[in-house]
Amino acid sequence: MAIHHIPVMVNEVIQHLNVRPGKIYVDCTLGGAGHSRAIIDRMKPGGFLVGIDQDKDAVNNAKKVLSAYGSEITLFHDNFVNIKSVLTQLNIHKVDGILADLGISLHQLAQSGRGFTFQKDEPLDMRMDSNSVLTAGDIVNTADEKELAGIFFRYGEERWSRRIASNIVKARKVKAIKSSFELVRIVSDSIPKKFISKPQRIHPATRVFMALRIAVNHELERLESFLDATADILNPGGRLCILSFHSLEDRIVKHWIKALARGCTCPPIFPQCICRSEKKLRFLTKKPVRPTEQEVELNPMARSTRLRAAERI
Ligand SMILES: C[S@@+](CC[C@H](N)C(=O)[O-])C[C@H]1O[C@@H](n2cnc3c(N)ncnc32)[C@H](O)[C@@H]1O
Repeated sequence: MAIHHIPVMVNEVIQHLNVRPGKIYVDCTLGGAGHSRAIIDRMKPGGFLVGIDQDKDAVNNAKKVLSAYGSEITLFHDNFVNIKSVLTQLNIHKVDGILADLGISLHQLAQSGRGFTFQKDEPLDMRMDSNSVLTAGDIVNTADEKELAGIFFRYGEERWSRRIASNIVKARKVKAIKSSFELVRIVSDSIPKKFISKPQRIHPATRVFMALRIAVNHELERLESFLDATADILNPGGRLCILSFHSLEDRIVKHWIKALARGCTCPPIFPQCICRSEKKLRFLTKKPVRPTEQEVELNPMARSTRLRAAERI
């Protein structure tokens, strides 16, 4: 099945990655391979692209849509936290650009059948990597009430997290919660009617579904491990470009770049540096770059995108 996903902020990504002929790039989130294609077109002649995605559908799709590029690309079904070992398999130790376009693809949302959306009645799965163990159904049916409320509050900033968690625990005592629509019903019934805005700006289950997806795929922990792996594999002048869709992701990226751009971590009262941490990065985006109004109009999925980029010193 062909994957339909409109790549976001393509020109801004290409510009911040400084894509040039003959260089090596890693697209850590192939998705529908739109960014990969744009990178490949500009790295010719002589460039090389490594593509990674934890979703087998995305890798199979990329194999088809990028088949014309043959020896210029290699694709991996893996988690981007393993970027170093992926590159080691190719005997590559340094690269010139790394891209991660976080979050979910339109394919996963609309076509995967894995319960990512509250708009279709599907099994509560939400695994981007179908080989991983934990599903959204496992969390909903086994996590204790406090843990559930914590997930909804922390990852979804859901105001009614405790009520929703309590109602989930009550419902699953009667019968296991198996499908997305069963969960939607519980969430909708948990929110007092006067707080369900009319006309609804967002569906009442939006935050709970997003929170569960983040928990199932360990998205924030994996983003941190991934970032820690990247600085040492960039050539001097090499670029890192991250597109995030959630304020928690963006905060992690911002603080991580800031720390590596600062270098020394000694308290200011120390007369001299004893930590010997070197500055590794230079910020290319003081503030996150946002999509243009025209892009958001054409592709509403781009609405909350924030691009941050840094250059290896
Ligand atoms: C927003 S889509 C990427 C879209 C892509 N840039 C394009 O042009 O079509 C995000 C993709 O990242 C993948 N992904 C998310 N987290 C990942 C991780 N930790 N490791 C590998 N792939 C990941 C998802 O499976 C999904 O296919």
